[in-house]
Amino acid sequence: MITLKENFYRLLHPKIVFLLTSAGKDGKHNVMSCAWATPASEEPPKVIVCVSKEHYTTELILQTEEFAINIPTKDMVKAIWICGSKSGRSVDKFKEAKLKTFKASKVSAPLIEGCAGFIECKVTKTIDAGECYAFLSDVVESKADERYFKKGIWIADNIPMHLGGRKIVYFSSSSSHE
Ligand SMILES: Cc1cc2nc3c(=O)[nH]c(=O)nc-3n(C[C@H](O)[C@H](O)[C@H](O)COP(=O)(O)O)c2cc1C
Repeated sequence: MITLKENFYRLLHPKIVFLLTSAGKDGKHNVMSCAWATPASEEPPKVIVCVSKEHYTTELILQTEEFAINIPTKDMVKAIWICGSKSGRSVDKFKEAKLKTFKASKVSAPLIEGCAGFIECKVTKTIDAGECYAFLSDVVESKADERYFKKGIWIADNIPMHLGGRKIVYFSSSSSHE
């Protein structure tokens, strides 16, 4: 056994990496890559997303208390690195990563074309978690592309998952006890 002095959280990876979209009060949009999210309750449907207090995304979420989770596919990995390494304070990442958006149905944050799944969220509680805020949020809408998500389960091997650092892995063929 080794004692981990840092990166303890990577014991909980891989995690699906998604594009977290947000909108400010003035209608400005932003997108960042994010892996730290978890379902928090099935009934009522809730998730928690953890975002650094320093990120521009946090500034926008605190303004409108809304955001959207966009789950990208394998062909969008380049966008994951662009949206995860630059700040929307100085760059239009939608433009830079060639991401096209469309209107969400229940939140002001935009949705990203070509993604395999979407969760629209409204923040109900902002928890000071240290370097991050943990946004406990109601799921107000969720949708998936059935080419990738069938009978309530991811089926394809092209959903990127973040292992840590620059490492992305993919679902491989699954085994079942049924
Ligand atoms: C694969 C990947 C996963 C990331 N996950 C998170 C995360 O869970 N929480 C977080 O605060 N930042 C995370 N980041 C870092 C942000 O995406 C990055 O700092 C971004 O530039 C913030 O953008 P913003 O200032 O426009 O909001 C991740 C980056 C990558 C590449």
